[in-house]
Amino acid sequence: MTKLPFFDLKTQFQSLREEILAEIASVCDAQAFILGSKVALFEQRIAELCGCSAAVATSSGTDAQLLILMAMGIGPGDAVVTTPFTFFSTAGCVARLGAKPLFVDIDSATMNVDPEKLERFFGRECREASNGLVTKDGLLIRGVIPVHLFGLCCDMDGIRDVCGRRRIPVIEDAAQALGAKYPSKNRIEPAGGMSEFGFFSFYPTKNLGAFGDAGMAVARDPELGRKMKILRNHGMDPRYYHSEIGGNFRMDALQAAVLLKKFPYLEQWSKRRWEIAQCYKDAFAKFARKIMLPSEPYAAQLGSEGHIYHQFVIRTPARDSLREHLEEHGIGTEIYYPVVLHQQKCFAYLGEMSLPESEKAAAECLALPIYPELTDQQVDRVIDSVAQFFN
Ligand SMILES: Cc1ncc(COP(=O)(O)O)c(C=O)c1O
Repeated sequence: MTKLPFFDLKTQFQSLREEILAEIASVCDAQAFILGSKVALFEQRIAELCGCSAAVATSSGTDAQLLILMAMGIGPGDAVVTTPFTFFSTAGCVARLGAKPLFVDIDSATMNVDPEKLERFFGRECREASNGLVTKDGLLIRGVIPVHLFGLCCDMDGIRDVCGRRRIPVIEDAAQALGAKYPSKNRIEPAGGMSEFGFFSFYPTKNLGAFGDAGMAVARDPELGRKMKILRNHGMDPRYYHSEIGGNFRMDALQAAVLLKKFPYLEQWSKRRWEIAQCYKDAFAKFARKIMLPSEPYAAQLGSEGHIYHQFVIRTPARDSLREHLEEHGIGTEIYYPVVLHQQKCFAYLGEMSLPESEKAAAECLALPIYPELTDQQVDRVIDSVAQFFN
């Protein structure tokens, strides 16, 4: 039986092999490996895509987030609110700076932060003080990080309304959502570019993947963009003079070269993911009582741009046995994410909390293969195997 892997980076590389190797060769010939003109050009591309005045290329998505939080001066005495149903780094970066991550439960359909729960959380757990909104233990709420999980934008009108009324900055975790759009009350807006800050990951399996780690931080305020560029390089300005402490968060020229070559294909690749998602959704509609399918709240306005399907995640109480069944049929799957962040050992110090929608999602979610290079036959094979399980 041939395997149908959960993801397959080799096929995409083969289709662009010569172009990409030529770009890599040009970096090798120049022997200029860190930052430089290719990185600057890639920053420009991302700034244009998300309508931001500043884009700062980094060594990973995690480092992009860390850089933003450092530029905001977040540290001990501060708290930042996010979702517990996300990749670890979203909350890990907050804790690494000595601030406290706080968690608000998700909406069960979208699996993104629910603005109504955020509003209730602020009303119940916080009070207005002279310096802003503070928690019962006296920590200042410095930001909210909504995560556009699996390629679907959060309800940003709701989140911006809740935060805007309290003058709390929003930092979009758009690591999984480059190119996704959101239909706000006034216009169509791009993931990562709807708030004060945003960040992206170019981890190799992302819709736009590097040949290693890479990321990007974006900001609306050009002054903060300038500050992030300095902090990205140890806070050095000018050379060997440091008035602030930063880090080494620089992007390699090799990564920018690869990403620039792949960038023109992003839209068509994400569209193909959408097509595959529609095949899955049509085929699984008849199992509506057994499987919860991904929600597409913006499909009517935006079509394929409303969800870039970084992952196609279904939910079923029979998750583990379905996964086993697919494995027996040679089909790779993944669980994003098996343990919610408030139940991670390293966050035990935050105390016990109950966030039932997130816990339920973690127990039921299963990601099926979805990458642009999947053939129609492979899509059918996934569909047949899932159908066989539920029939
Ligand atoms: C939601 C989310 N946030 C942050 C990150 C961190 O990005 P990176 O792996 O590039 O550090 C990821 C990457 O997997 C992610 O999925």
